Amino acid sequence: MKVIVVKDYAAMSREAANVIAACVKENPACRLGLATGSTPEGLYAELVGDYKAGQLDFSQVTTFNLDEYRGLDNDHEQSYHYFMKKNLFDAVNIDPVRTHVPDGANPNAAVVCARYEAAIDAAGGIDLQLLGIGHNGHIGFNEPGTEFPKLTSCVDLAESTIFANSRLFSSADEVPRQAYTMGIGTIMKAKKILVVASGAGKATVVRNAFFGPVTPFVPASVLQLHHDVTLVVDEEAASLLEGSVAGSADL
Ligand code: F6R
Repeated sequence: MKVIVVKDYAAMSREAANVIAACVKENPACRLGLATGSTPEGLYAELVGDYKAGQLDFSQVTTFNLDEYRGLDNDHEQSYHYFMKKNLFDAVNIDPVRTHVPDGANPNAAVVCARYEAAIDAAGGIDLQLLGIGHNGHIGFNEPGTEFPKLTSCVDLAESTIFANSRLFSSADEVPRQAYTMGIGTIMKAKKILVVASGAGKATVVRNAFFGPVTPFVPASVLQLHHDVTLVVDEEAASLLEGSVAGSADL
């Protein structure tokens, strides 16, 4: 695992954008796995800036998002479809046909999940998967539990996730209770994984996930078993790691 500790959120965003930009430049037809949430907003802004500066071309890129709330229309302002259009897809030259987000508007979970997993396989798998981490250790919407869910599935959100995400809705009651998410097995099949975390509120989970035991009670800890993970964290999120000053280390 490569750990890159940078000063702050802006530096994390640029550093992570560099990793994604390098993947696109190396293979213009690469398949990116994408995440939503507050953490990657800055890195998407950096990628849009690179595109506008003529340094990045998304025309051949294919994307698969990690997850989507079940029961929200694709144009709902809190849907991950909407988030991706606003933060990336509508601002760069990506072909909408090559962008994929689980269809939260379709209540038929078996169909949505099987189709999504098949679409990833048909595209040839994911080259680089971007991940944020929930305060409870979730990746995608794979919540802490007694086992690692394998493939894309319909899951119940943990109370802690409903609480954390209620900041974006008018009340916790409006947060959907279920989501479609890539499974841990889907995520682990990606060739490379890029994890971003920022702020003191993520310090405990960053330490537990990457330096604690591998356990389904901290789903992100499974990433310790992946052979190509880059973790980009700012100093606050890295503050509980030993020797956490800005720099990079291979562990
Ligand atoms: C989003 C996702 C989630 C978030 C996580 C962190 O697509 O899969 O796992 O990455 O909840 O969210 P933020 O960045 O808002 O703290």
